[in-house]
Amino acid sequence: MLDLGSGTGRFTPALAEAFGGPVHGVEPSQKMRAIAESSTAHAAVAYLDGRAESIPLPAMSIDLVLMHLSFHHVRDRGAAAAEIARVLRADGRVLLRSTFSDRLPDLEWMRNVPRVREIEMQMFPSSRDVTRLFAAVGLQAIALVAIEEQLSSSLAEYAARLRMRAISTFEHMPEEKIAEGFARLDAAVAEEKQPRAVIRPSDLLVLGRQDR
Ligand SMILES: C[S@@+](CC[C@H](N)C(=O)[O-])C[C@H]1O[C@@H](n2cnc3c(N)ncnc32)[C@H](O)[C@@H]1O
Repeated sequence: MLDLGSGTGRFTPALAEAFGGPVHGVEPSQKMRAIAESSTAHAAVAYLDGRAESIPLPAMSIDLVLMHLSFHHVRDRGAAAAEIARVLRADGRVLLRSTFSDRLPDLEWMRNVPRVREIEMQMFPSSRDVTRLFAAVGLQAIALVAIEEQLSSSLAEYAARLRMRAISTFEHMPEEKIAEGFARLDAAVAEEKQPRAVIRPSDLLVLGRQDR
């Protein structure tokens, strides 16, 4: 298996546990890989330097590719699709967990942070564009599944997590808009009497060769 854009290895050992190894976590950031190697090491997992556009693995060596929130970071998505098709076995599957511009969820914090929606419309590719990119290299969309993901158990916890700015949307926002958004979010947190889970709808695109 291949966890492509594995970051700090949040899911990489879980893939090995669920399906057996070997699992390759391919990640371009040396810093992320170092964290993965020290905090999410697993006997069946190897973290490798590489990127979606240039995967350091042989042709037809992979049964399952997972891209969890990494596809929209890829600069040359056409090259990435071609590389994924190269390493994937004939009956292999690609799981692409992403946000698509034509299926943006109405997030709690989108209502609270101004301009987020427009920024994310530009940041994320549409499901149609992604489907077309993969079709061009022989991989068809088998399913586009809406899944629900619990982000936190309360709005307060969610706001605290957002303050870490781990979401790339912030990189495109001016500081005054971010401050304005957090002021609104804090007001909503102050009104939260009972902790309420923040649940985010999200998309999983499953791809594979059609004739299989
Ligand atoms: C939001 S993180 C997701 C990490 C991990 N998959 C997770 O869900 O915890 C996005 C990751 O994509 C990586 N990335 C950026 N450009 C990439 C590329 N061209 N190919 C593969 N990964 C890339 C980043 O370094 C980062 O680790």
